[in-house]
Order: sequence, then structure tokens, then C-alpha cells
Amino acid sequence: MKDTNEMLLEFESRSQNESFARTVVAAFAAQLDPTIEELADIKTAVSEAVTNSIIHGYVDYVGIIRMKCIICENQLTVEISDTGAGIENITKAMEPLYTTRPELERSGMGFSFMEAFMDELSVNSQIGEGTTVRMKKRVGKTLVKKGEFSKENQNVR
Ligand SMILES: Nc1ncnc2c1ncn2[C@@H]1O[C@H](COP(=O)(O)OP(=O)(O)OP(=O)(O)O)[C@@H](O)[C@H]1O
Ligand SMILES: [Mg+2]
Repeated sequence: MKDTNEMLLEFESRSQNESFARTVVAAFAAQLDPTIEELADIKTAVSEAVTNSIIHGYVDYVGIIRMKCIICENQLTVEISDTGAGIENITKAMEPLYTTRPELERSGMGFSFMEAFMDELSVNSQIGEGTTVRMKKRVGKTLVKKGEFSKENQNVR
């Protein structure tokens, strides 16, 4: 059977919960024995997604952000959702430097960071219903279980 583990957290869309959320994910991911760099990548991506729900999802009111983390073997999946404003054009929103809040001095780089720091990123959103961001990252890629060879070390003939 595969090694799996799951956790679910709900918290209010308050700015002080951004660091709370990324610390929780880092603590959960610790069981995968990540490198410091991998942990930093995961924390940055989580911060970006949570900040987006706080700033763009629940504009000028407090709502609930739901964060689900799944570990399956050496892969971490993080799903962050809000039931706020939603995104009109997801493709456009994911373009580097695209922001709908330039007055808040946002740089429009949040999705680009999530994409760069994680292995996979998918976004689902409906106007008036909310947004779900799902990110995946393989952690501890170089880790080889006792008695097993990593693929890189195998001679393929
Ligand atoms: N959870 C969300 N709910 C509603 N709109 C969102 C959400 N997340 C992102 N968006 C939309 O997508 C755009 C791009 O998001 P992105 O994180 O890339 O940039 P930003 O948040 O505007 O700037 P930065 O992240 O650099 O501070 C946002 O400006 C916003 O319009
Ligand atoms: Mg952002």
C-alpha cells in the first residue's frame, strides 16, 4: 500500500493567518524529509495562494479559507480554496505581471511564483463562487529507500 496522509485546515482570511498557513504546511511536509530549499519553495507558493484569497477572494470582508494537504509517497499536494469573488479569465490572471489590483502595488507575480516553485499548478474558479488552487510538488526527489536503486542510477539497456 502507498504511504498516504491527509490534513484539512480552515481559517479566516486575515493577513496574520498567511504565516500561520505556511507554517502548518511546512510542519506537515516535514515528514517527507524535505530540503531547506524545497520547504522554502512550498512556503512561498502557499503564501502566494493564501494572500490571493485574502486580497482578491474576500475583498473588504473576512471569509473562510480552506487548505487541504495530501501526501502520497514522496508527493505533496496542497489545495487552497475560497468561496469569494472568483476569477473572470484564469488564463489572463496567470500571465506574469497581470494584476487587477495595481493600486495596492501588487506586482502580478503570484501565480508565476506558484508555477515556478511547485511541479504542477491548476486553478479552478467561477465568478461569485470562488477559487481553488491545487499545487503539487515531489519532495526529497533524491531520497532512495534502502535496498532500492533510484531510476537515475539504473542502467537501462
Ligand atoms: N483567490 C482569488 N480570487 C479572486 N481573484 C484572484 C484570486 N487569486 C488571483 N486572482 C486574480 O488573479 C490576478 C493575478 O494573481 P497573482 O497572484 O498572479 O497577482 P497579484 O495577486 O495581483 O499580485 P502579487 O501576487 O504579485 O502581489 C489577481 O490580480 C486577481 O485578479
Ligand atoms: Mg497574488
